[in-house]
Amino acid sequence: MSKYFLIIGLSYLIGSIPFSYITAKVMGNIDIRNYGSGNTGATNVYRTLGAKAGFTAFFLDFLKGFVPAILAKRFFDVDMAVLASVFAVVGHCYSFWLGFKGGKGVATTAGTIFALSPILGLILLVLQFVLIFTTRIMSLASISTAFLFPIMSYFMATSNVFVLYATALGIFVIYKHKANIKRLLNGTESKMSFKKK
Ligand code: G3P
Repeated sequence: MSKYFLIIGLSYLIGSIPFSYITAKVMGNIDIRNYGSGNTGATNVYRTLGAKAGFTAFFLDFLKGFVPAILAKRFFDVDMAVLASVFAVVGHCYSFWLGFKGGKGVATTAGTIFALSPILGLILLVLQFVLIFTTRIMSLASISTAFLFPIMSYFMATSNVFVLYATALGIFVIYKHKANIKRLLNGTESKMSFKKK
């Protein structure tokens, strides 16, 4: 039983580290919650401070998912890695350090997918980038990829637990985009600019 608490607790704490918030503070001396969409995520850091800060935030938020999942997979098994993945994402979205608020879970979920199924991770990452460059709307790309994640897992995954994890995180990430969905429906969602800041 104690290993469950260890994995849940450590993964939540690692996921809780608000790297996008910290990156924006360190690289731009701003509180990212007061800028752009107000989201403490890599997209908002990119939007506000440019590519260098955006990719730094993405990479660090990605690692928060990758590290707990790969360690749980290495020292326990895939089921424990799935548990670690879910709690790392929950930590990111409901961070202890940010009053149980946080980001929308995209980069951290991506990290967990790369730890559990690198090939699926690569396919989804390529898909995400294609959608970003064709639509220029990050939230639309994230929602579409989150929708396709469980469907592709169903055809590629070897275990039911993996499909369950993909379904739960896919629905959760879409749920976290509810404000974006409203903006998409009323045509006010902001488009990404790829011009250098
Ligand atoms: O990863 C989050 C992204 O899909 C949307 O971010 O800042 O546009 O709400 P944002």
